Amino acid sequence: MTEIRTPRLLLRSWHDDDLASMADINADPQVMRWTEDGSVRDLDHTAEDIERWEEEWDEEGFGLFAVELLASGELIGFTGLSVPEFLPEVMPAVAISWRLGSPFWGQGYASEAAHATLEFALQDRGLDRVISISRVGDNASENVIRKLGMAPERETTHPVHGYPLSVHAIDLTEFQA
Ligand SMILES: CC(C)(COP(=O)(O)OP(=O)(O)OC[C@H]1O[C@@H](n2cnc3c(N)ncnc32)[C@H](O)[C@@H]1OP(=O)(O)O)[C@@H](O)C(=O)NCCC(=O)NCCS
Repeated sequence: MTEIRTPRLLLRSWHDDDLASMADINADPQVMRWTEDGSVRDLDHTAEDIERWEEEWDEEGFGLFAVELLASGELIGFTGLSVPEFLPEVMPAVAISWRLGSPFWGQGYASEAAHATLEFALQDRGLDRVISISRVGDNASENVIRKLGMAPERETTHPVHGYPLSVHAIDLTEFQA
């Protein structure tokens, strides 16, 4: 799979030794607050997640990148693309998402990685449209979505968890790389 360098980050494939770092991120209630039912994930669940993300790369030709800090080599989380099958009303679609460890918030890393992911979607994968699905109240994600230039498309309800969701979209043919 493609590796992407940004000024401060490396977006890359998953390595075996990412499991412990990603499990630490997934064990933090602050990080998981806005994801699915808000519960934390243990090491086994994280291992299953990473396996599924790798399969998605094989099946779709895109997926979630491991995001590494160039300065230190630390894994700080993920950003990438997936098919949002859990929300049939928006399909067919490709969605961008992100999750960083809390020590790495507030430094512009999520926006830097997301911007590079949209460039990858357009230039490498030839996608012309990407959506985001965020839980209403997840202000940190909404801030990233706004900075990427994504436009509000619809409000809906999570089919399993029942909470309100916002769907945004961007026409990548108008995206300023
Ligand atoms: C959502 C999430 C990725 C956002 O991360 P973030 O660090 O807040 O987002 P950004 O990368 O845009 O950085 C935000 C701030 O960094 C600051 N910053 C510091 N240095 C910066 C730099 N060099 N460049 C840009 N911004 C910088 C900016 O002030 C910016 O805030 P502003 O846009 O209000 O000015 C993070 O909160 C997260 O992982 N949350 C948990 C997972 C989650 O909720 N995922 C979505 C649900 S599935």
